[in-house]
Amino acid sequence: MMSKAKGSPPIQKKQNKQTLADKADKYDCYQQSVQEPEHEIDIFDQAFREAYNRKALKLREDFCGTFAVCCYWVESDSKRSAWGIDLCEETLQWGKNNNLNKLKEKDSRRVTVMEQDVRERSTPQVDVLAAQNFSFWIFKTREEVLEYFKIAYANLASEGVIVMDMMGGRDCYDSDLVDKRTIVKGKKGFKYHWEQAYFNPVNSHCKFYIHFKFADGSKMKKAFQYDWRFWTIPEVRELLMEAGFKDTVVYWEEDTEDATWSKVDEAPNDYSWLCYVVGIK
Ligand SMILES: C[S@@+](CC[C@H](N)C(=O)[O-])C[C@H]1O[C@@H](n2cnc3c(N)ncnc32)[C@H](O)[C@@H]1O
Repeated sequence: MMSKAKGSPPIQKKQNKQTLADKADKYDCYQQSVQEPEHEIDIFDQAFREAYNRKALKLREDFCGTFAVCCYWVESDSKRSAWGIDLCEETLQWGKNNNLNKLKEKDSRRVTVMEQDVRERSTPQVDVLAAQNFSFWIFKTREEVLEYFKIAYANLASEGVIVMDMMGGRDCYDSDLVDKRTIVKGKKGFKYHWEQAYFNPVNSHCKFYIHFKFADGSKMKKAFQYDWRFWTIPEVRELLMEAGFKDTVVYWEEDTEDATWSKVDEAPNDYSWLCYVVGIK
């Protein structure tokens, strides 16, 4: 072992300069780039009102993550309450510290967060059950999805709707493809990369990653990863009916400036699309 020579300068500890990626908060980046809770609650409102001609008050947000949607829901009406369900303790805690804490006390007490599997019947029956960002695609067999839809049905009041977003179109089946978007410009800005890493046409299993890239060139790779089955609209509608729902509806975005959704039986075969599938109890 080499000994330090008497009188030699002290060994300089290499300063590890933190990159922007080191300092970034992945949940904050996610919320800024992926979620639009204010728009999501609009479609829940619309789907429930068009089914039952009245306002929805109780929301259960399955796979709620940081439950931003629950927070917007209770803020939108003082009669509204929300239950957020997710398995991940860390994600829920971030939501408590960053979303729930920002609400006024009179609103935050109408949000209940539960760390558990969505396949549990634990909340009061609700008007709207939402499962956003393709989250139920984690279930890879018909049996698993059917079981989930049956439980969702039981979690709904006698008048209730389940709302799920779906994506598709030929571009979505490409693998080794990265879709890049700038979220915030400038020195403190960042880019969002959605990577379609893998798709197996034999069983429709697929893998997606979210990476973030920052102004200093640093990257947060695989900040979020998804190992899913790529479900199609007809499969989901059939499974909803099998689970007991009396009807299903598809909402497609109209070609207008503002996000307007309407019920459709036919839609353009776009290269990529997003829509909402709704099950009516
Ligand atoms: C794709 S993220 C969606 C988060 C949020 N809904 C959104 O729209 O951004 C999926 C979430 O589902 C949670 N999750 C996965 N399987 C679950 C299960 N069986 N029960 C409850 N939560 C689950 C994960 O912890 C993760 O937070």
